[in-house]
Amino acid sequence: MTAPETSIKNRPQFINVRVLRQDEPGAKSYWELHKIKYEREMNVISVLQRIAAQATTVDGKKVTPVAWDCGCLEEVCGSCTMVINGRVRQSCSALVDRLLADNPDEIVLEPMTKFPVVRDLMVDRARLFRSLKRIQGWVPVDSYYNLGPGERIPREDQERNYPLSQCMSCGCCLDACPQYQKIELTQNEGESDEEFEQRQNAEFDEAFIGAAAISQAMLFNNHPTGKALAAERLEALSGPGGITTCGNAQNCVAVCPKEIPLTRSIARTGRATTLHAIKKWFER
Ligand code: SF4
Ligand code: SF4
Ligand code: FES
Repeated sequence: MTAPETSIKNRPQFINVRVLRQDEPGAKSYWELHKIKYEREMNVISVLQRIAAQATTVDGKKVTPVAWDCGCLEEVCGSCTMVINGRVRQSCSALVDRLLADNPDEIVLEPMTKFPVVRDLMVDRARLFRSLKRIQGWVPVDSYYNLGPGERIPREDQERNYPLSQCMSCGCCLDACPQYQKIELTQNEGESDEEFEQRQNAEFDEAFIGAAAISQAMLFNNHPTGKALAAERLEALSGPGGITTCGNAQNCVAVCPKEIPLTRSIARTGRATTLHAIKKWFER
């Protein structure tokens, strides 16, 4: 990660950071303005660390530290994803000098819009992980025995699969998708955790699955062992909230930080589900 060159005269002394905060799930959100000292080569995570250390707003009010998620700090885990100056992206790779070059007045931080807020900038991406279960996004190898070397993957398939394998389940493609609507349920009184999870999963399974899982289905369907579940994956993508819900707006591909060819995966899925339906019809 290299910082863009910013001329010294353009470097401010302080940075204004506006944060959309929320104290708990379902609570009303509110804006808070923080001011931190400018340092060279900061990213948004280091801005949040300074804000947490100060825990004081621009007008001197003592506040609880802003909460956010992060893991790898090198755009691999996807957990630090948030909306930065109106664009969904990873906060670890969002460089302050570059943000200030675009908007010298302030940096605006908001949680992702399509997932329930846990607190401040932390969201619950359970639906995204549920969608990977929905398409059985894995290679089905389950044995204690030595199965020997796997089948060779032709170079052409390696080249086709590698870009798709870079998905880090960050959820940017879902946040930007007009067909992907937020689902936020609350646990009823007397409802056990298991009952709530079941009700939530049932709701997730009817709603649009989104570009990330569609693309992962194409990745595993093009793997020599993964393709054992190809028909089940296509079946899942043919049902409610599957491929036909995609409106082809292409926002997903525009925001994917890994530049995964999502619209190509969507087109491949469209063809594969059609062939799957024809095959099923002949097998009746
Ligand atoms: S192409 Fe489909 S998945 Fe991508 S943003 Fe548009 S509707 Fe969503
Ligand atoms: S496809 Fe791209 S934007 Fe979507 S979850 Fe994967 S890495 Fe993130
Ligand atoms: S902390 Fe892992 S992607 Fe940012």
